[in-house]
Amino acid sequence: MGLRQILVLALALLLMTACSSGQSTVTYNNLPPGDAGRGEALFTQTVNGAPACSTCHTLDGSTLVGPTLQNYVTTAEDHAEDATVESYTLTSIVRPAAHIVAGFPNAMYAQYAQRLSDQELADLIAYLLTL
Ligand code: HEC
Repeated sequence: MGLRQILVLALALLLMTACSSGQSTVTYNNLPPGDAGRGEALFTQTVNGAPACSTCHTLDGSTLVGPTLQNYVTTAEDHAEDATVESYTLTSIVRPAAHIVAGFPNAMYAQYAQRLSDQELADLIAYLLTL
């Protein structure tokens, strides 16, 4: 293979990586300020075709498909390891497979990164951090 072909191949690979990462590269610091009140409402709503969080998560300690989010902040501090609770929470929503809570299947809806706006993500995180 000539140098030219190698360069073309490298460029194609670079473009593929750039495109596939898409919106999933959102970081907490790039989000607008969140509103916990709006997040509380969003928690029980279908948004842009995505299922409501409350379909799978309770706030009263009982288990549906996913773990309860009762006392979420304490749990998140425990699960976040080196990350902040904010960025752990964002990752848990937009890339649920990145951390799987022990004892649960990798069954969280996986399209929130495409369905929720940055504002909606910020609002949900602000709400979860009041729990
Ligand atoms: C289809 C069911 C389902 C839906 C809908 C869902 N989740 Fe989950 N969620 C899960 C499951 C199962 C887990 C545990 C496995 C894992 O860690 O991905 C989980 C894990 C989490 C965690 C990590 C909890 C911990 O103890 O560390 C957070 C935070 C979370 N979900 C938030 C949300 C939010 C916010 C929404 C709505 C935007 C949502 N989930 C919608 C099923 C769901």
